[in-house]
Order: sequence, then structure tokens, then C-alpha cells
Amino acid sequence: MGHAEPQVTSTMQSFWMPFSPNKEFKSEPRMFARAKGMYFYTPEGREVIDASAGLFCVAAGHCRDEISQAVFEQLQTLDFTAPFLRGHSKSFELAERITHYTPEGLNRIFFVNSGSESVDTAMKMALAYHRTRGQSQRQLFVSRERAYHGVNMGGVSLAGMVNNRRAYGTGMAGVYHMRHTALPENKFAKGQPEHGADLADDLQRFCALYGGENIAAVFVEPTAGSFGCLPPPKGYLNKLRQICDQHGILLVFDEVITGWGRMGANFGAQAFGVTPDLLTMAKAMTNGAQPMGAVAAKQEIYDTITQAGPAQGIEFFHGYTYSAHPASCAAGLAMMDIFAKDRLIERAAAMSPKFIDAIHALRDMPIVTDIRSIGMMAAVDIAADGAPGARGHEAQKRLYDAGLHLKSTGDALIIAPPLVMEDKHLDEIVSKLRQVLGSL
Ligand SMILES: Cc1ncc(COP(=O)(O)O)c(C=O)c1O
Repeated sequence: MGHAEPQVTSTMQSFWMPFSPNKEFKSEPRMFARAKGMYFYTPEGREVIDASAGLFCVAAGHCRDEISQAVFEQLQTLDFTAPFLRGHSKSFELAERITHYTPEGLNRIFFVNSGSESVDTAMKMALAYHRTRGQSQRQLFVSRERAYHGVNMGGVSLAGMVNNRRAYGTGMAGVYHMRHTALPENKFAKGQPEHGADLADDLQRFCALYGGENIAAVFVEPTAGSFGCLPPPKGYLNKLRQICDQHGILLVFDEVITGWGRMGANFGAQAFGVTPDLLTMAKAMTNGAQPMGAVAAKQEIYDTITQAGPAQGIEFFHGYTYSAHPASCAAGLAMMDIFAKDRLIERAAAMSPKFIDAIHALRDMPIVTDIRSIGMMAAVDIAADGAPGARGHEAQKRLYDAGLHLKSTGDALIIAPPLVMEDKHLDEIVSKLRQVLGSL
């Protein structure tokens, strides 16, 4: 299958692309010019179905009029205000609306501009909380192999994906990684796998070795997303919760991908019945139309930090120029309306079994070595050919050429479509995957 799009010009050289092979892309670019609903369109007008909701963001489908209208009106009314010492009503309104979706008790919302910022913000909240309570010895963090927690220095230190770490030295000292939960005996499991709850005992071992009283927080994605959909083994998250409680450690769910319906519930916390102390979110909260993230904190954490502060002084020395940006808040509020009006989360829950069965049907292809799935997210592992990741990379290029966009990581192809997907879109996604995987 040839790559028939027109080729690059020298005007492409200035942009240093993130997480992309710059040299290759600029010699054979794969561009999008517009999008609507379930589809991207190339500059030549060719339709490309969006099988990864952009990058797990576009839950409500592309270019929703309600969102663009709200952002446009906001920018004409109040384009910017300093978020420190000044406020605007939409930030308060959005925070309140978000608490209708977060797990019970996580009702204090701190706004940031990305998932990465939400992770580093949650790390600081954990440290500040313990310090306020006279436990400033709690400096250690625990995360997991194969985790992705964004790209800021805190998040990179938590990260468990080698390419995201190795160029940047040691990162923060005092971060320990539990083993990942991808076990051979769980291959081709649908939903939560049976085996691996005992891997949570790694946390207990760290408590024994380093002192549970020295650990500030444990960060996990309820389902690891970027690495390629690793749902938690049954009982695993409950066990982490138990060990955290036993040692006074905060449990943080990084729900940047798993939040807002992707797991077939508001958040992974509700999908798996385990409540964290801090929860990070981003991506789908504005449908990806404006950069925005947030940390939802237990009220006790907020109360502890704010009550310890001076009567008239700043309590938490943290924030971004664009925290609670008016245009992002407007997009977020419009998205909250869409969640309610389109019943997107209920829709995701209802669609999940059919989605999972359709993706698992690819199991009969010899190239497919594993499929993992939960809610509205699945990953198809394909057999490596040459260097690890080379075939996955080739697959995503050929898929674009065949009219399908998805995110690949190594040799895993991740399918996480907009939650507005209909049966005919699912059929198209699966048949294009079959066609292209058959060509590799
Ligand atoms: C679990 C998780 N945390 C953090 C991030 C970083 O988010 P961002 O790219 O918005 O900084 C991501 C991005 O995919 C993510 O999946």
C-alpha cells in the first residue's frame, strides 16, 4: 500500500515535533486538515476514521459546535484573567460540575493545563499534605513498571517506560517501581484478568524495606493506557488501597486516560470500586478542544492544607498562569453538558461488550500475539519483526494510509474510539485493522 499524499516542503523544518520521528515525518508527512464526528480528513479530503479519540481526548466526537461556540463566546467576553488572586465564575462552576462525576469525597478541584501538570501537582499535594500534618519524612513515591505519568520531571520519575526516562538521568530520588501486571497467563483476557492481585504485595515489600511511614504516595493508572491497555487484575487495586491505608500512604489514581467514561464508568475509581485520595484527569474533560487538566482531592486533603495556612496568606504555593483559563473552562462546561445530554458514559458502558468482542475477533490472525481490553479501550499486540516497535510503527503508518488513525506504542496498537461510535464505525475499524494487519 503506497503512501500517496503530496510531500513536504522546507516550511516544515522549523517545527520540532513532540514524541515523533521528526526526520521520517518531514520526509513523508501524514497530516490532518480537519475533523468531524468520528473522522479526520487529510489535506486532500481523504476520510480517516479516528480509532483512538485523537489521543484518548475526543470522547464526544470531533468539532462539537456546542464547544466551539462556548469557547468563541468566552474569548469575546473574558479572554484571560490572572488565576492568582482573581477569579471568574466559570472556574467555580466547572469545578462544582466535575464533583458530580468524581468519586464521593473527592470534591476539591485544582485546575492545570495537561495530564503531565496534573501528575506533578498531585505529587506536590501529597508532599504538602504530609508536611502539614507533621510527617515531612514522607518523601518517597511508589509507581509501577510500564506506567506513563506524563513528561514533567515528577511524572518522568514515576514513569515505567524506559524510552521516556533513559535520556534524562536519574530523575527524582526516592521513587520505587512495583512490577507491572502483564502476565503471560492473562493473555487474551477480556476485562480484568484473573491473575496478578498478589503483585500489589510489592508495595508491602517497599513498606517493609523503606518504612511505610516514609512513603508519601503511590501513583497508578487504574488501567495502564499509553503502554497498551493493562487492566488491573481482579483484587489488585483493592489490595493497594488496603496497604496504603495500613501505612498512611496516599493512593493516587492517574485517570488522564481512564477518566470520563473510557472505563465504562465516570472514572476508573468507580469502574473498579476503589476510591483514591487524589485523582488526576485531563484529555476528555474538554473533549480535547482546549488544553486542560485537573486534580480532584479528598476534602480532607484540601482542608488540612488550607486550614494550616495563614489567615490571609497563600496556603498552597503552586499554580500555572493558565490554570482555569476561561476558554478551557468554557470548553469544559460545554463538555459537561454533552456528557449529560448525550449520556456518553452510559453509552460507553452499553457499547463496551460489543466493542471488546469485535476487537477480540482479531485473535485468529497469526500476527496477533495478545489482546487486552476493558471498557472502551483495547490493545492488540502484534508479533515484533526486527527491532521492537518497528512493526507497530509500520502498522500505524499503513493504517493511516488505509484510512484509520490510532495510537501505537511499541508493537501494541491501541484502540480507544470516541464514545459516540456507532456499530458501522466499529465494523469499519475492525475491517481496516484486519486488512492492514494482513498486509504486514
Ligand atoms: C496516565 C497519563 N498521565 C499523564 C499523561 C500526560 O498527559 P499530557 O500529555 O496531557 O501531559 C498521560 C498522557 O497520555 C497519561 O496517559
